[in-house]
Amino acid sequence: MSHFLSAADLSRERAEHLFRVAAALKQGWKAGRRGAPLSGRTLALIFEKPSLRTRVTFEVGIVQLGGRAVHLSGSEIGLGTRESVPDAARNLSLWVDGIAARVYSHETVEGLARHATVPVINALSDFEHPCQALADFFTLWERGIDLGAMRLCWVGDGNNVCHSLILLGALLGTTIVVATPPGYEPEARVQQTVHKLGGRLTVTHDAREAATGADVIYTDVWTSMGQESERERRLEAFSRYQVNETLVAFARPSVLVMHCLPAHRGEEITDGVLDGPHSIALDQAENRLHAQKAVILDLLGGSLDDA
Ligand code: CP
Ligand code: NVA
Repeated sequence: MSHFLSAADLSRERAEHLFRVAAALKQGWKAGRRGAPLSGRTLALIFEKPSLRTRVTFEVGIVQLGGRAVHLSGSEIGLGTRESVPDAARNLSLWVDGIAARVYSHETVEGLARHATVPVINALSDFEHPCQALADFFTLWERGIDLGAMRLCWVGDGNNVCHSLILLGALLGTTIVVATPPGYEPEARVQQTVHKLGGRLTVTHDAREAATGADVIYTDVWTSMGQESERERRLEAFSRYQVNETLVAFARPSVLVMHCLPAHRGEEITDGVLDGPHSIALDQAENRLHAQKAVILDLLGGSLDDA
């Protein structure tokens, strides 16, 4: 039984396998193949926080594989309030074949995985967003980029998306430079794991230094879901960490600009950059679907031959 709670749950081989499955599923779907490898299977989708991309891509993804989704809002099931996390996990396991959960606390998704007898997928927690990182590296891989030879620069908050990206980057051999304001670096335990995995990671407070020579510049919101009360303080702390035309000019001329979305336009990124020629944010969003279909197929034991 396996779960997908952290980017570090993958290995380089497993990530590359998922890239190949995602590419085959994407190509097959676009060519009109409509197999149903997960016919009769059900995925529960728990969302304690809002979502556009993750909810739609999980729901559409399982349906495209021949299964169905049951959506449960956080307030509806009250994880840890109306019912304990172990009880919810044990009950859900009686009826569904997998659980994808977007939660405030990473402990909640870990608790679900500990007590469920079906696979659990982290659909974003305060600590990680592994499905995003998988789709992001798939987006670079499918462009033929050598992930072990590229330099990725993260500018902004050392947050959940950053954690998953630097963990998967370490597994794939990517050189990563993270630029954050002092006090907003990726968590020390994540940096330690990256180094244990042999990852090439530098953390700096200088966005221009980080962007210099970058093949990819990645940013995300300065205020994540659940941090709204810190918004004013963060706006001030991050004001010199915007991905704008001036910063992009420090990178390689062929630089790709990435953003997981949703964007707070005019804060962490300008309209000109997000909508400009370097941006691949919509490719990332599209690939959430294909990458997650690969994860669901893998964890629920479906065969690519039937897709
Ligand atoms: N990138 C991402 O996870 O988007 P949503 O919050 O809309 O799901
Ligand atoms: N860091 C953001 C990512 C949203 C997809 C958040 O957690 O709100």
